[in-house]
Amino acid sequence: MIPQIKKVCCIGAGYVGGPTMAVMAKHCDKLEINVVDMDSRKIKLWNSKNLDDLPIYEPELSEIIGECRNKNLYFSTDIKKHISEADMIFISVNTPTKQKGIGAGQASDLKWIESCARQIGSYALGHTIVVERSTLPVKTAETIKSILEVHTVSIDNDKKDYKEFSILSNPEFLAEGTAIKNLENPDRVLIGGEEEEAISALKLIYKNWVHDHKILTTDLWSSELSKLIANAFLAQRISSINSVSALCELTDSNISDVAKAIGLDTRIGSEFLNAGPGFGGSCFKKDISNLIYICNHYGLNQVADYWEQVILINEWQQKRITKIIVEKLYGTISEKKITVLGFAFKPNTNDTRESPSINVCKDLLEEGCILSIYDPKVKKEQIENALEIQNISNNLDSRKINNIIFANTIEEAVMDSDAVIVLTDWDHFYNLDFKKINSLMRAPSWLFDTRNTIDSDQAKLCGFNVWKLGEGK
Ligand code: UDX
Ligand code: ADP
Repeated sequence: MIPQIKKVCCIGAGYVGGPTMAVMAKHCDKLEINVVDMDSRKIKLWNSKNLDDLPIYEPELSEIIGECRNKNLYFSTDIKKHISEADMIFISVNTPTKQKGIGAGQASDLKWIESCARQIGSYALGHTIVVERSTLPVKTAETIKSILEVHTVSIDNDKKDYKEFSILSNPEFLAEGTAIKNLENPDRVLIGGEEEEAISALKLIYKNWVHDHKILTTDLWSSELSKLIANAFLAQRISSINSVSALCELTDSNISDVAKAIGLDTRIGSEFLNAGPGFGGSCFKKDISNLIYICNHYGLNQVADYWEQVILINEWQQKRITKIIVEKLYGTISEKKITVLGFAFKPNTNDTRESPSINVCKDLLEEGCILSIYDPKVKKEQIENALEIQNISNNLDSRKINNIIFANTIEEAVMDSDAVIVLTDWDHFYNLDFKKINSLMRAPSWLFDTRNTIDSDQAKLCGFNVWKLGEGK
């Protein structure tokens, strides 16, 4: 018999755990929710008085934190206490791609998941429902189960402190920048599991704000796999449209028109057809790599090769952009100043993981230019980390460090630049003051738009040479 859920613990206070628990706390005032993390700096930021200092930026998030924090939502480093008190534990830790050893570059590194399972096994008391929330390779629940089994002390055992576990998969489908909207009004909530009672307990929580017909239940493995496949399909659409963008440029056609024309077919649909510098973010590349690894593992090498093309096209698209910029700027950008507008992997987030800006910036630096970077939400230290400035300085190539300017405003960024490249579609890049920007730049000035944010006619009228991704002529 599973007791009524009163206390929830979420391990991992990152992009997934933070927003998910905030929305849950908002709608479930009877639940006490404790978000724990081993990173004390992060927890301190979640508890900061000034809501502008929260460790992640998401529209509408700070308002909910302001409303619920220290009422029914708490952030803490006391992992042991909150695991032991919880009736339900969400695992929302990071699962990056393995860097070394077997499966390096493809398989997920599950060391954080494993350590969570061990912590839960050691500290949990009574019956605990363990919910996989992070994206995980299919069959990860088996790993968690086998670790928890070692710690299980059944209720009919004479010992006082019994421990039993139920495992559920409840993958997140939130996209950064719209995380709160996605959580408030999800397309579906997926719950995979083997025990009806545990599934019902989690379903009951979601029913506080999600309609019954949107809550889908499956077995554990279908739920785990669905998450990988959803991301693989989304990424595949982006690689498909990006591959066509190159063809448009050579055939005097226009990628926006093509996307609109095909998207009106209801079987295709209009979403996720924006050509750009390739997909970034912590999920797409990691999940497809994972899928490739799993397919190869099961001997489905052709299937693995098929999905690998999605990643290869993504990488090719980024290289292609740098090549075009160099070609347009008379074959060399050495010592020219190039302004990059946007470093986050998409707008309305400060996340830079796998951002296309990283590869494009690295390639541009490699060509010897001076890079001036402006992003409204990404901090200088994040850019330095993403561009591995530390590694570069270890290699004593100080020229590259001196070649990056971190600007606080667009005007400061473009001063004396030869070219501006839009790499993230932040709202205000749709309304650039072309006249002013052009007057601050060195002529002939270039505008490279990889996100379809620029009105090229207007920009040309103000003196710019313009290149737009996916547009011929
Ligand atoms: C994704 C999934 O959308 C989400 O369901 C899952 O839970 C996590 O991974 P996220 O990575 O936050 O979310 O962002 P998403 O909006 O999917 O965008 C990913 C990348 O694709 C971004 O770099 C974005 O700029 C790019 N993209 C998206 C395009 O280039 N074109 C599009 O049409 C859509
Ligand atoms: P995601 O995008 O999946 O949320 P993040 O990196 O933003 O990933 O957040 C994951 C968080 O999980 C990090 O803050 C990390 O410190 C935390 N974490 C990882 N392993 C553990 C663990 N065993 N115990 C507590 N916190 C953990």
